[in-house]
Order: sequence, then structure tokens, then C-alpha cells
Amino acid sequence: MTKIYLDNAATTPLDPEVFDAMVPYMKEHFGNPSAIHGFGRRTRAAIEQARRSVVSALLNCTPSEIIFTSGGTEADNMALECSVRDLGVKHIISSRIEHHAVELTAEAIGHDGGAQVHWVRLHADGQPDLAHLEELLKATQGQGVLVSLMHANNELGTRIDLTAVGGLCRRYGALFHSDTVQTMGHYRFDMEKLPVDLLTCAAHKFHGPKGIGFLYMRNGVGLKPLILGGSQERNMRAGTENLYGIVGLAKAMEVAYRDLDEHIHHVSGLKAHMKQRLKAEIPGVSFNGDSGPESLYTVLSVNFPEDGKSEMLLYNLDIEGVACSGGSACSSGSNKGSHVMAALYPDQTGANLRFSFSRYTTKDEIDRTLEVLKRVFEPVIAGARVKA
Ligand SMILES: Cc1ncc(COP(=O)(O)O)c(C=O)c1O
Repeated sequence: MTKIYLDNAATTPLDPEVFDAMVPYMKEHFGNPSAIHGFGRRTRAAIEQARRSVVSALLNCTPSEIIFTSGGTEADNMALECSVRDLGVKHIISSRIEHHAVELTAEAIGHDGGAQVHWVRLHADGQPDLAHLEELLKATQGQGVLVSLMHANNELGTRIDLTAVGGLCRRYGALFHSDTVQTMGHYRFDMEKLPVDLLTCAAHKFHGPKGIGFLYMRNGVGLKPLILGGSQERNMRAGTENLYGIVGLAKAMEVAYRDLDEHIHHVSGLKAHMKQRLKAEIPGVSFNGDSGPESLYTVLSVNFPEDGKSEMLLYNLDIEGVACSGGSACSSGSNKGSHVMAALYPDQTGANLRFSFSRYTTKDEIDRTLEVLKRVFEPVIAGARVKA
């Protein structure tokens, strides 16, 4: 059976163009980038070319502001832990729907007494309550504050306004970190204009390889390395570089931004189409978070009516050839449940599915998924027909 892949917020398939760019660095150009001989100089040049000509050029920042890491998790950890350790941050303001790479790191810092953690109140769609954020910023002003709020939520698709949040942080002298793992490669970032100090990126969310990402750190922020050892990454991240990962990340970014408008148009169209069909054809369906025009166009989080088989929904779809992801507020069996849904919708019933799309997803795949869902929910649909 052909498989339909609608789990692109978890990870995306590697673009063949990206793969082709990486292969020479697996086969021929293997020198250690720290070596001074020609083998090393060749690979050092590839890393610096990726940093300068692609990543920093696309983000309108300087190359020294990019620190390659093993991915989003490491960059998030570094942003939080090193801000507390190196910059005298005594208060972290974050939210209960951050990715665990931020939420659990903040919690651990709070437990260890490194900083006090404040959880900003959230609206029902997952947007931070900016009035509460301002209250927290006022109360902690001048005491060393880091705000960490993700650009777009990976489970809901709710996307915050970085300029508005960053503007508030600037007004009260707080540092601002944003986890942009779901949005890098999907939206444009101009770091000259954007009031954000730290950003995190993971290449595998935009058709790049896994195990590579970066931390953007604004010049002057002054974090010290999280990982100690060699002097790689201008002494900011020790360890022999993930050479072909870096080359792949840069190629994936180049491709993503080369055709960005076309990708946005295509993928937003798929999301709108799926949303419209779900609403029209499955009674009782609703959407979690913000699913409107400002939301992350790659993610649609759907709540399906309780039909007695909710627990099995994800498995049933997999059997039918549709791969997506679940997440509900409650714990069941080995499935721990979603901390995002638990924070926002603790009393919700039914089953949640997250459908996430990429530039490779087709309208036909969405239509076939709808047919599968309609088969699964046939009793619900028939019940609604009888009532009408
Ligand atoms: C919002 C967000 N932050 C961080 C991560 C972690 O990134 P990585 O898998 O590269 O460590 C993910 C990946 O699922 C994510 O969606």
C-alpha cells in the first residue's frame, strides 16, 4: 500500500538535491576541518562557505553569529543553560507549551536553583498573554531576565509575533530566545530587524539531514560554550564538526528559501483544503490552537469526536497507510500524552491528530486521507445523518 506521510513536523524527507550536495563530503572530502593540510583546508572552506554564503546571508546576520550544533535540542539547552551560567540570568520566563527541549531545561534550571522560572499565561489558542508577559517583565526588570517562547508550536501550529514579543523584551531589558525549529526554512528571518537575541534551528524540519542545526546568537550576547574540548566553532562548540551535516543544512536552507513563496502557496493551500473538507464532512471536528491565516502553514491539529475507538485512531490510520501523529491531554498505557494539550485543554474529550505537510505533499494525498478518515468515522457520520 502506498504510504501517505503527513508527519512533517516530526521530520521531513531529505531533498535529493541536499543528498547530492552531501555525498562528496562523505566520499572524497573527509579531512578534519581543524587540520592545516590541504584535506583539512578543503573541508574547513566548505563549513565556512555554508556559514557565510548561505546561513548568515539568508538570515541577514554575520557569520560569527551562527554556531552549528547537533540540532534543535542542543541549541535550546545552550540558550537557556548558558544564559543562566554566563550572563547572570536569574529569571526565565517561558510557557508550558514549549517543546520539552526548552520546558524541561527551564524546569531543571528552576529545580537546581539557577534561576526562578515563570510560566506566562496562555490564551486558549496557545498565544502568550502579552499583558501577563509584561507584568512578569515589569516585576523582574533589572534582575537578569531571559524570555524563551517558541515561534510556532510544533503540536498546534500557533505562531507568535516575534516582533511584538521581542519589542516587549527590549523595553524591559530582557534577553529573548525563540525556538524557531518549526519555522526556520519556512519563513524569512531578517536578524537586522528582528528583536530576537537567540534562535534555534534544526535542519531535518526542512528537508535537511538529522543531527545538525544551529544556535543564532546575536553579537554581544556573550554566551560561553556548553560543550568543552577543542576550539571548533570559534571556541563556541567543541567537537569535530558534522561536516556533511553542515553542508546539507546549508543546501537545504538554500533550496527552502529559493522557492519559498511557491512552497508557502502550495502548502497553505493543502492545509486550507484539508481543514475545509474536515469541517464539511466529519461532524463534530474542531481545530486545536490557532489554525487561521497567521498560523504555521505546515501544521493542522484536529480534535475528532469521541467514538469509543479514539485510543486506536492513530494505529488505524497507520494500518490504512496514513502516517500522522497523535497527542491528547490524558495519559493512556505507554502513551504519556501531550503536555501541550494537557496545558491548554485538560478537559478535552475525543482524539487529537496532528497532520503536518511539506512541499512534497500532494492534494491527492489529502483527499485520500479524507476518504480514510471518513471510513473510520462512518458511524459518527451516519449518526449525524440520522439526527438530521
Ligand atoms: C519546536 C521544536 N524544538 C526543538 C526540537 C528538537 O529538535 P532536534 O530534533 O533537532 O533536537 C523539535 C523537534 O521535534 C521541535 O519541534
